[in-house]
Amino acid sequence: MSFLFQNYKRAPIEFVRAEGNCLIDSEGQAYLDFSSGIGVTNLGFHPQVKQALLEQAEQIWHSPNLYRNALQEEVAQRLIGGYDYLAFFCNSGAEANEAAIKLARKASGKQGIISFQNSFHGRTFGAMAATGQDKIKEGFGDGLPHFSFAVYNDLDSVKSLVHEDTAAVMLELIQGESGVLPAEPQFVRELAAFCQEQGLLLIVDEVQTGMGRTGKLYAFEHYGLVPDIVTLAKGLANGLPVGAMLGRSSLSPAFSYGSHGSTFGGNKLAMAAALATLKVQQAPGFLPDAAARGTALLEQLQQAFEDHPKISAVRGLGMMIGIETSASLPKIVEAARRKGLIILTAGSNVIRLLPPLTVSREEIQQGAAILKEVFAEAD
Ligand SMILES: Cc1ncc(COP(=O)(O)O)c(C=O)c1O
Repeated sequence: MSFLFQNYKRAPIEFVRAEGNCLIDSEGQAYLDFSSGIGVTNLGFHPQVKQALLEQAEQIWHSPNLYRNALQEEVAQRLIGGYDYLAFFCNSGAEANEAAIKLARKASGKQGIISFQNSFHGRTFGAMAATGQDKIKEGFGDGLPHFSFAVYNDLDSVKSLVHEDTAAVMLELIQGESGVLPAEPQFVRELAAFCQEQGLLLIVDEVQTGMGRTGKLYAFEHYGLVPDIVTLAKGLANGLPVGAMLGRSSLSPAFSYGSHGSTFGGNKLAMAAALATLKVQQAPGFLPDAAARGTALLEQLQQAFEDHPKISAVRGLGMMIGIETSASLPKIVEAARRKGLIILTAGSNVIRLLPPLTVSREEIQQGAAILKEVFAEAD
């Protein structure tokens, strides 16, 4: 008997404790986490984040957005770095994308948003409208108008959807939920140039790819691109609920006083965790080192599965890896769990690995060995 809506399929174990990159269930069984709680606990259960939370909880854990918030300023400054952005804080990826859609529409005075087939941008009405998957929208009645869907990695398809009321193009640089599918660098370069030429705003959804997941703070840094608007969430506060939208400072008149807001957005606990997370991630060498370990895992799996009859591709960037397979995804996930490894799926045929950026080389060996065993036994 459950008192919850059954909108999730939950495995019959409960994590009650965590240490570093290990999760411990109520029976005392330990699991190596190659999921980071769906790309969230990017540093694992890191002592510095824990300490920051404890210290913040001792002082004050909520202060409304009617008052100065030095923590928000410091987190924003670290997120912005040398870019010409301003930040808005909310509580989730969907909310960050809502903010992005609202900012793009108001700043441009136009309504059309072009996103991509098979994209995922969240479950609220605006973010869902931008999501290019029918199954996400089923049963919820009419969606919002003015959203259209281009073929991923196909600039002509984008061009064919542009009209005089188009405000923005919204893009994941690696489609995460639909199968760890990367955008092609040439497509991204040409799309950015096209958007600039046409006066379209380019929104990059970095909810999953951001915060070091791909080995750089933002995935757009791999592509030599500076989007007009960037959305973040998941790993931003290493497990505390938070989202953020970064937008070019020239867009600020559209988000002036009273235009948008959030009661909890940027609350002190989330900001304390975000600041501690950023301090770890921005320490010299941290991200390059994480990227190198991600590449080592990717290469090891590519080699191991080169001739596997049920695996057609192993791809990824940094600590975001997809194994495309004809094996049953639920069976693989369960078999890995039974051997002490937590992994994810994406789309209909991909096993997705999002290990913490702190995963050690020993843990990589351990996780890779379990994956090899599981796929060797896959029927
Ligand atoms: C690319 C992307 N955008 C948006 C979201 C939605 O984020 P949230 O679940 O925090 O609303 C997700 C979640 O998986 C995502 O992967």
